[in-house]
Amino acid sequence: NKAQAWSARFSEPVSDLVKRYTASVDFDKRLALFDIQGSLAHADMLAAVGVITQEDKTAIERGMARILEEIELDRFEWSLDLEDVHLNIEKRLVELIGDAGKRLHTGRSRNDQVATDIRLWLRSEIDIAIQLLGQLRAKLATLALTHAATILPGFTHLQVAQPVTFGHHLLAYAEMFGRDAERLADTRKRVNRLPLGAAALAGTTYPIDRERVAKTLEFDGVARNSLDAVSDRDFAIEFCSAAALIMVHISRFSEELVLWMSPRVGFIDLADRFCTGSSIMPQKKNPDVPELARGKTGRVNGHLMALLTLMKGQPLAYNKDNQEDKEGLFDSADTIRDTLTIFVDLVDGIRVNAEAMRSAALQGFATATDLADYLVKKGVPFRDAHEAVAHAVRTCEAKGCDLSDLPLNELQQFHASIGDDIYQVLTLEGSIAARNHIGGTAPERVMEEARRILAQYQ
Ligand code: ARG
Repeated sequence: NKAQAWSARFSEPVSDLVKRYTASVDFDKRLALFDIQGSLAHADMLAAVGVITQEDKTAIERGMARILEEIELDRFEWSLDLEDVHLNIEKRLVELIGDAGKRLHTGRSRNDQVATDIRLWLRSEIDIAIQLLGQLRAKLATLALTHAATILPGFTHLQVAQPVTFGHHLLAYAEMFGRDAERLADTRKRVNRLPLGAAALAGTTYPIDRERVAKTLEFDGVARNSLDAVSDRDFAIEFCSAAALIMVHISRFSEELVLWMSPRVGFIDLADRFCTGSSIMPQKKNPDVPELARGKTGRVNGHLMALLTLMKGQPLAYNKDNQEDKEGLFDSADTIRDTLTIFVDLVDGIRVNAEAMRSAALQGFATATDLADYLVKKGVPFRDAHEAVAHAVRTCEAKGCDLSDLPLNELQQFHASIGDDIYQVLTLEGSIAARNHIGGTAPERVMEEARRILAQYQ
């Protein structure tokens, strides 16, 4: 039984189960690179203010370089006895360089160390996610440009509502992912504050230079209260919330892809590389990737709830509860990273069946609102127009035809102000072209928006 870093105070060792229960090295070892980065910045500062010598600092740098290499080559021996990533690395450092290694932890605690590591790691995950969201938006905008005039029914309540363009529909998701990226960028501001210097909870008696460490690690500034710096994980909760929203948006998109790919709808086909077959039904091509993305949304939503609950009862300052922040946070980051990476490619693999979209838009009286608007423009109050068109729709339903199939004299029975210019209004093309304002579905507006989005990523 190897001695723990803190074991001098204790009279009996912990049981194997308690050791496993309290250890985090199995999952926090992924913070190793950031832990080393943080330690190097700390050592540099200790040397600069004269708490350790330049020789100690150089030795620490040499030792850490070696450790980094061992980790990268997968030769580092992680030990559960050493509890977590921090103690594993420190122990190895002492093995390699002796007393200088023992001086590294001066003026520092694992409490401010781990808070720093997580922030460094999370910052880089945020940067990756923002990057991926940009790529996804660019792919959506590119496909939207191609389909700026491809018409499909727009739905409310999953009932045919009004015609829209497929490009417009895709750009709705580009907007959502745009806000997701903004949310992450905003979260990053609060992630990017340096906890080091808070030590265990109250700060430290050494003449530390926190601003120097912040600068070295490219933080925007230092955390202004030591108790807060080591204890709150609100920045992680914010990230989990932003991640959950990303997945919710992905999940809505996935739901539509699955629906559109159903043979009963047939609006799109997905490239084979995102689908799998059935072991029993030879004809099947299942949209597994969107279904799994929809499913994984549950996990990521759950991590948000777990972290909120983890935090709610904790008195100041650090409590070991916080060790439980990591797995869910890591999984949220991994899940959005994988999901977004796959979806960037998946959008390329969407094959559009414009005919199926169009013929669906021709069913369900998608241009009924246009007829009502036409009457309003002829001076009819909107409520009266609405009623007249409702009668016309009922008649068409009984006859099994579309509004545009009714001859002019029949249409005029519903309202005398209908003229033969109505047929242009009742076409799908007329309907979408008329919605020509910022945020509308008219093809020229869709192209404008798609280009605006693409220009952001040039
Ligand atoms: N493994 C711990 C964590 O993840 C590091 C901090 C431990 N601090 C302590 N005093 N036990 O939170």
